Amino acid sequence: MNIQLDKHGRLKHFLSIEGLRRELLVDILDSAERFAPVGERAVKNVPLLRGKTVVNLFFEPSTRTRSTFELAAKRLSADIMNLNIEASATSKGESLSDTLRTLEAMNCDMFVVRHQNSGAAEFIANQVASHISVINAGDGRHAHPTQAMLDMLTIRRAKQNFEGLVVAIVGDVKHSRVARSEIQALNTLGVAEVRVVGPKTLIPSQVEALGTKVFHQIERGIAGADVVIMLRLQNERMQSALLPSAHEYFQAYGLTERRLKLAASDAIVMHPGPINRGVEIDSAIADGPQSVILQQVSNGIAVRMAVMAMAIGTQAIAGAN
Ligand code: CP
Repeated sequence: MNIQLDKHGRLKHFLSIEGLRRELLVDILDSAERFAPVGERAVKNVPLLRGKTVVNLFFEPSTRTRSTFELAAKRLSADIMNLNIEASATSKGESLSDTLRTLEAMNCDMFVVRHQNSGAAEFIANQVASHISVINAGDGRHAHPTQAMLDMLTIRRAKQNFEGLVVAIVGDVKHSRVARSEIQALNTLGVAEVRVVGPKTLIPSQVEALGTKVFHQIERGIAGADVVIMLRLQNERMQSALLPSAHEYFQAYGLTERRLKLAASDAIVMHPGPINRGVEIDSAIADGPQSVILQQVSNGIAVRMAVMAMAIGTQAIAGAN
């Protein structure tokens, strides 16, 4: 049984894309489409989660994920608390389990968790009281499911559907929870081909078994691609130097105007952020007409509203007032 689903097959926790059926992913995308206009109104909220309490529990740094979860909760009229981990009792040695018990005693309804350890979000979902939902905001190298879904929304908005698409994921696939979740989502949603592109030291072994084709030359890997997703070098997760230097990495794998011309003429360029200009992507591309990087950020709010509403058991009716 998938711990993420309740006995009726509805989303209870959102921990990983793995094991979720296509219809559920499409429900999240459709629900996000209904929520997106809320952010464009004069009054940017709906009362769906009024009276609910959400806690942002970020044990790792974040700009995009943390702030868009906070905005998403506010646009759903939930109360949100950002626990400052560095200033919390965790820094005095309190265990994760005791922190969870303490927050539970405050009658919270949802934990949004980012943690440096793979499996941390599932560990927490197994510990908490049955009325609490847990959303994984990125755990170690394992999964970042809401990032994958905001990326799917961005692709669907640009390309209308997934069938026939060739998607190239370029860079540090080995340490990337985003890449793992994207590969699962793209294959579940039925794209034609998922390519992973990078040096041997940054491509995980057995990645073909996840439904990908491996390329070690960027020119071949992005040729004809409809979507090019660039990844950040995750230096903080590398045990030792896996690359000669950032400069040489850019020479071999950086996305430049010359290289992008090899992709489909209407290809979109994505990056989950934070971007390192001149390391994995040229500024002219990051800020150029084919870049949808800032649209990814905006779409993150709508996707996170959808996931929060679905997990707390409120069906998304963005028109509600
Ligand atoms: N994409 C992403 O997870 O960015 P943050 O680390 O800023 O949340």
